[in-house]
Amino acid sequence: MELPAALRQAVDRMLDGTALSDLQRAADLLSRRYRAEVRDGRLHLSDDLAAKAYLAARLPATYTAIRKSLEAVAEAQPDFAPATLLDLGSGPGSALWAAGECWASLDVADLVEASPAIRRVGEELARESGLSTVRWRAGDVLKPLPDLQAADLVTLAYVLDELPPSAIASLTDRLWALTAGTLVVIEPGTPAGWKRILAVRDRLIAAGAGIVAPCPHARACPLVEPDWCHFAGRVARSRIHRLTKGADVPWEDEKYIFVAASRLPPAPYAARVVAPPRIASGQVRLKLCRADGTAGEDLVTKRQGDAFKRARRADWGDAL
Ligand SMILES: C[S@@+](CC[C@H](N)C(=O)[O-])C[C@H]1O[C@@H](n2cnc3c(N)ncnc32)[C@H](O)[C@@H]1O
Repeated sequence: MELPAALRQAVDRMLDGTALSDLQRAADLLSRRYRAEVRDGRLHLSDDLAAKAYLAARLPATYTAIRKSLEAVAEAQPDFAPATLLDLGSGPGSALWAAGECWASLDVADLVEASPAIRRVGEELARESGLSTVRWRAGDVLKPLPDLQAADLVTLAYVLDELPPSAIASLTDRLWALTAGTLVVIEPGTPAGWKRILAVRDRLIAAGAGIVAPCPHARACPLVEPDWCHFAGRVARSRIHRLTKGADVPWEDEKYIFVAASRLPPAPYAARVVAPPRIASGQVRLKLCRADGTAGEDLVTKRQGDAFKRARRADWGDAL
């Protein structure tokens, strides 16, 4: 997946003139802080260089993860046409761009971000977004945020891993209270990210929310550690992305996990593919999370005709 052309061009303009060695150093520091989930009271994106390194090294991946999560929502809720977006911990506005690509109905966005450095970047990029109203707010999602109105679509992407785990329950309650339609929370596709998403999911189910995706049910998650639920999106690496990361390959796979919950009743579906399909001659093995709350591998063989053809086309993350 690539960034939308207008965003890609705006990012290139913004990075133009920044020394590659500076970007590489800042991206390396960011990557080490994210991997170690450092919570030392400092924001990772606290200065201009860190913000630019995020654009070069992380935005393509988080954009892909958000876009794929939102596409799963759009598929599960074909009548959902959000006009308003509220995104928290917005960074450079990744969710704004991903939601704009998913829903032409989107018109007004409120974005809350604590770091002035990345907020400035996001504000400048958002001028190209084509939405009629984009309002950026300085704010800490852990503190009361007065004046925020409920929105059709509420998103929180790649933020929980920077917050104290003890904040998840109350933040989920506040996000849900601000959700008029659908709430989507996205995290890195690590075992720790999955556990945070499970905590959000449990809280939302207890509040009466309908789970839209990725789970085809609202029962307990059937996956058992050391297994964990996650998906992957292929990210096209631009030249600056490759150079910043010192990478040769023109793509990377971003692993992510999400939960989407809605006030609208979710449309039922039979199962979701929760691992890459294993294809051999005349047979496909699909690891499924099923609507009855179970998970396991289904073997589909050529003898099963149409079911086999469908299974051959199925991909990791697809709803069946
Ligand atoms: C990893 S970035 C994700 C940015 C964007 N959502 C994305 O997916 O690309 C996390 C963002 O959350 C912001 N953030 C972290 N803690 C926050 C808080 N307590 N209140 C508001 N923003 C916060 C950070 O400054 C950073 O911009």
